[in-house]
Order: sequence, then C-alpha cells, then structure tokens
Amino acid sequence: MTIEQARRRHAELAEEIRRHDHLYYVAAQPEISDYAYDQLTKELLQLEEQHPELVTPDSPSQRVGGRPLEGFVSVTHGVPMMSLDNTYSPDEVREFVQRLARLLPGEALSFVVEPKVDGVAVNLRYEEGLLVCGATRGDGVKGDDITANLKTIRSIPLRLRGGPDGVSRRLEIRGEVYMTRAGFERMNRGREEAGEERFANPRNATAGTLKQLDSRLVAQRPLEMICYGVGWVEGGAPVPETQQELLIWLASLGCRTPERHWHCGTVEEVLQALEELDAIRGGFAYETDGAVIKLDRRALRERAGATSKAPRWAIAYKYAPEQAETKLVAISIQVGRTGALTPVAELTPVLLSGTTVTRATLHNEEDMRRKDIRLGDLVVIEKAGEIIPAVVRVRTDLRTGAERAFAFPTECPECGSKVVRATADDSEQQVVWRCPNPDCPAQVRGRILHWCSRGAMDIEGGGEVLVGQLVAKGLVQDVADLYRLKLEEVMGLERMGEKSAQNFLAAIQESRGRDLWRLLFGLGILHVGAGVAKSLARAFATLEDLAAASMAQWTQVEDVGEVIARSLERWFADPRNRKLIDRLRQAGLNFASGTHQASQTPGVLAGRILVLTGTLPTLSREAATARIEAAGGKVSGSVSRKTHYVVAGDDAGSKLEKAKTLGVPVIDEAELLRLLSGQP
Ligand code: IVH
Repeated sequence: MTIEQARRRHAELAEEIRRHDHLYYVAAQPEISDYAYDQLTKELLQLEEQHPELVTPDSPSQRVGGRPLEGFVSVTHGVPMMSLDNTYSPDEVREFVQRLARLLPGEALSFVVEPKVDGVAVNLRYEEGLLVCGATRGDGVKGDDITANLKTIRSIPLRLRGGPDGVSRRLEIRGEVYMTRAGFERMNRGREEAGEERFANPRNATAGTLKQLDSRLVAQRPLEMICYGVGWVEGGAPVPETQQELLIWLASLGCRTPERHWHCGTVEEVLQALEELDAIRGGFAYETDGAVIKLDRRALRERAGATSKAPRWAIAYKYAPEQAETKLVAISIQVGRTGALTPVAELTPVLLSGTTVTRATLHNEEDMRRKDIRLGDLVVIEKAGEIIPAVVRVRTDLRTGAERAFAFPTECPECGSKVVRATADDSEQQVVWRCPNPDCPAQVRGRILHWCSRGAMDIEGGGEVLVGQLVAKGLVQDVADLYRLKLEEVMGLERMGEKSAQNFLAAIQESRGRDLWRLLFGLGILHVGAGVAKSLARAFATLEDLAAASMAQWTQVEDVGEVIARSLERWFADPRNRKLIDRLRQAGLNFASGTHQASQTPGVLAGRILVLTGTLPTLSREAATARIEAAGGKVSGSVSRKTHYVVAGDDAGSKLEKAKTLGVPVIDEAELLRLLSGQP
C-alpha cells in the first residue's frame, strides 16, 4: 500500500468509525455488530502503527486513553459555570416564574423543562470544530483539565459534525458526564470481585473516574455525556436564540442531548411537564434527581441576570427523595470538628435509591425527641441531597413495646468532658450539644481532616484512617504539626509503606503554596465557608492584613456581615489561634492572596462603566459582560453621563441614541476586544 492509499483508507475508516460511534452512543441506533465494529477499529490501529503520521487528535484511536498524567492542569472557563438554586414544591416554581415576570415586564415568557442528569458537569472547548480541551466545573471559574479522560467517552464528539460553516470558531459546550445505572452495577460487581471497594452511587463513581490520572483506566469505565448548554462562543456560526433550538443544534453537531424536553408557555404547563418527567424518569438509563426549568430565550436570560451563585433564569426542581423502612438497632454519637455531638442511627441494612444504607443521621437530640425516636423502632429513612440518608419519622403504629428510649450522653464519648449547650456563637439555635474541650481527639481529627479536604488545602492522602492514626499516636495535634512530620513517623503507621508515606509528605509540602482563601477556609473559622474565604482573600492582600483589620473593615467585604465579622474577631483574638498562625508562618505557608484585587493591579478596564446594546457579531451578552468584568470594568444597564463607553451591535436602540445625545463614546465589538487586549 502506498502512503497515499494508506491515507485514503485511514480517512475512510475514521469516518466510518465516527459514524458508528454516533449511531451507537448518541442516536442509540447501531447498524453493525460489535464484531464488525472491532474489525474496523483494528484495521485503523494497524494503519496508524505502520504510518504514525496518520494519527490525528480526532482519530478514533485517541479514545483508548494515553500515558498517565502527573496531575491536572487548572483551566479557566471562558464563561463561569454557575450552579442552580433548588426548588422542591410547585409553589416555589410559581414564585420562580413570578419573579421572572417581575424582572422582565411585558415579555411573553416560555420555558424549557429538561431532566436534571445526576452526574458531573463538564465544559468542552471546541476550536474550529475540534475538541481541544475538556474540564471539570471546579470552583465555577476554573476547573481541572481532564481532556484525556473525556476523549475516551464515545458520546463526546472529538470533532463536531456541523462542518466549517455550521460551527462557531470557538465554542464551549456544557453538559453532564454520568454513568448509566447498568454500567455502574456492572462495574461495581467487577470491583467486588477484584477485592476493591464499591462506589456508593453512579455520581460518585463518575466523579471518581474523571479524577483518574490514567485515561486508559477511564476508557474502561462506562461513562457517557449529555449536553444541554453552551458557554463561551466566538466567531463562525451563531448559537441559536432559544434553548429549544439550541438542543436541536447541539444534536446536529453530534452531541447527545436530553432524550426528552418540554416547551412550556405557562406555569401550569411547567408543572405538568414536571409530573410527566417524574412518571418516566425511572425508565431512563441514568439517574435523575430532578428537572431543570430554563427560560427559553437567551436574550431574556441575559436581562434576568444572576446572583453570585446561580442564574435567575433557570432553576432546579428536586423530586421528593425515595424512602425506605428499616430497623434502628443502635444509636452512636459522632463528635465533629466544632465539638458538636451528632446522633447517628445504626440500621439494619436496606436498599435506598440503589445503594445499601446502614447508617443515617438523627440530626440532634431535640429532633430525636420531636420524632420520638427509640431504640428498636422501625424508622422511615430518605436520602436528603442524595448523599447522607436521614431518619424522617418513626412507624409508631408498628411499635411492639420492646422499644427503649435513648438517653443522650451528658459526657463526650471521645474525651469524657461534660457536654454543654452553650453555643460557640449566639447566631445558632441552641439545639446542639457540644464537647467544650478543644483538645478532644475527635475535634482535633475533624479540624485536620477539614484542613486536608479537597475544598480546603487539598492534601491528597489526608483521609480519615491516616489522620486518625496521626492524632491517636500524638504525632499531630493541630494543622501546623502536619508540616513537621518526618518520614519515619509516617512510615511507622499501620499499613503505610514508604511510597505512600513519601506521597503524603509531598502532598503536605505542596500545600504550603496554596492560595490564601484555601488556608482561610481550612482554618475552619465559624461561618467562614469557601465562598466567604474567597471574598476575604480578594479584599485583603495577606493573612496579616486580614487579621489586623477592624470590624468595620471586615464588614466592607462582600458577603461578610456582622455575624461573620464577629466570628473573625473572636477567632483572631484567641491566643491559641494566634499561636497557630505564627507556627504556620514558621512552617513556610503562603499567606499572600493570589486573588487580591487592589488598585495596584487594576484590570485594563478598572473603574470603567460600559453599556452593551444591540447584538454583537460574535460575543453573547453574557460573554461580553464576563470579559469586561474580568478586566475590572462594570457593565451597566443604562446610559448616563458616568458611562465611559457604549458598546453597540446590530439593532442597537434607544441606548445608542442616548449615548449620542450625552456625547458618550460609542464603540463596536472589535474596538471592545482591542480595549480588552490592553491596546489604547
Ligand atoms: S443547566 C447555570 N441543565 O445541575 C447552570 N444543568 O444544580 C446551568 N445539571 O451544575 C446548568 N442536568 O451540573 C443544566 N439539563 C441540565 C442539567 C444540569 C444536570 C447539573 C449541572 C449543574 C447542576 C446545577
């Protein structure tokens, strides 16, 4: 075979395999047998072996996975990936629609209802139709680059089908990667046989798989993807104006889209759609935990805007969780990092939404008393938020008389201290019993686990078993001690080989450089969650600056009110905490904020107010807004004398007129892009 012939045959085979992938994984209409398909793949692989120059990034051979990565690189999404607010009742859905009607007076609102796929959100970036990068949602702004893993998923096109004219030059496609129930069961069975741990549910299995550094392993796992949205769009074919059309368009590009969606002109139709979906979702191959209700027209979405976390134009509707009945055989008490005592029900194992449940939370003593929970009761459990099952009520009608009341402990089961009701903070309801001893091993463990967690300092390996041993052996009493651990000490622990000990120490070492917000969050200051920690790190350049600030300065920070400021005050006033900070400084931890936004590093549009009007040739309103804000500028809805620029596109209306009357400079998209790139 000449190289020319080989090239032609390779192109033919690649095209044929792509077509069959689409038929099988996207359209669910396979045309050939698995055997015939394998023959095509084999021939393609042979050709590539003989002529490596034929391998292209979108060749079907790229789906088998490649060399393992050292770690994931972080990538910034073109447009942030937001999450959704949840609703649980028809009334809340009505409120959502009424709110939009108020925000968009005079507009005829219609909605699309889609299944909420219970998986992991990802962002696919296509350039000139080729998949160049795929990433996890991460913190919404930045995620992990998991391209190699995503390429193994055959329902993700490596090349979009629209042809050069049908596809935007740069396009982010968004959707959910998931595992089918059947695939999940098969995989778990295999793992059991191999003596490996079962995954708890398909979503955990998906998340765990996507985090794998070895894409060859990912290629073995039954992952799929459904697409439902776009992010950044630039150049080429424009994106359709409505969600309905968008779904059709995405399908025409070769993406798998939700198998059903409903277009609804009224709230009643939305509610009807939610019922219909509930009736059929059990038959879907994947798990759905609800529905997503979206405003259909994109132009209106932009006007409806977003809160800091979620858009106002869409909402999730969660179906009532599944319930099961089982016997409560014992009650154990867990002590958390803040000393809170949580009662936990030990249950006769029972199947609930596809997983076996043996424990459920009982929240607190008061809740137990209200529900009149007794040992030996038959209880109804459900999964709240899909992860931690909870006991919701007792079948008092089925009591035998053998049930016994449970006496809530008056002493901490971990350290024996007398428990107290005085809360750490008057903002909380006084329902929680606490262990008041800050040196209680359970609290120490909890604080260290929190520090190591993925959302905080992200120290790989710092899980329950290892941290438990470190604390029990007295090697670690607070998070600063982690940075003084020696290899022999870690190796001396049970089931700890030299390699894992080295890895753990390396992970600790690496965490020294983490950004300030992670450290702040990791300290576990009451009310300082990841969101507040990020706001604080944006407002203060260093931990020292933050610690030295006053109540008034703290409350200036976005998301920080009285309660949080007082909590900060109390935390920094505590000599133990001050000492901890000193020791962390000595250990060489980074105290500087990489996200600090002060006037010394202004964006190119810092302090500038821009108004967008009309349709820009390539940038959506959301994208233009995101880019202006990223450059430090503000986007305002109306033109005034304070406006620095009006960015006008096609069909610009009264705002353009007003700009002209007020003498505000009017620029087009090209000029905006030039400004954004820092050119005068
Ligand atoms: S639209 C601005 N549509 O649910 C956010 N999300 O709770 C737009 N999800 O992060 C998201 N199915 O991971 C959308 N049909 C669907 C979805 C869906 C599942 C996930 C997604 C999102 C989360 C929000």
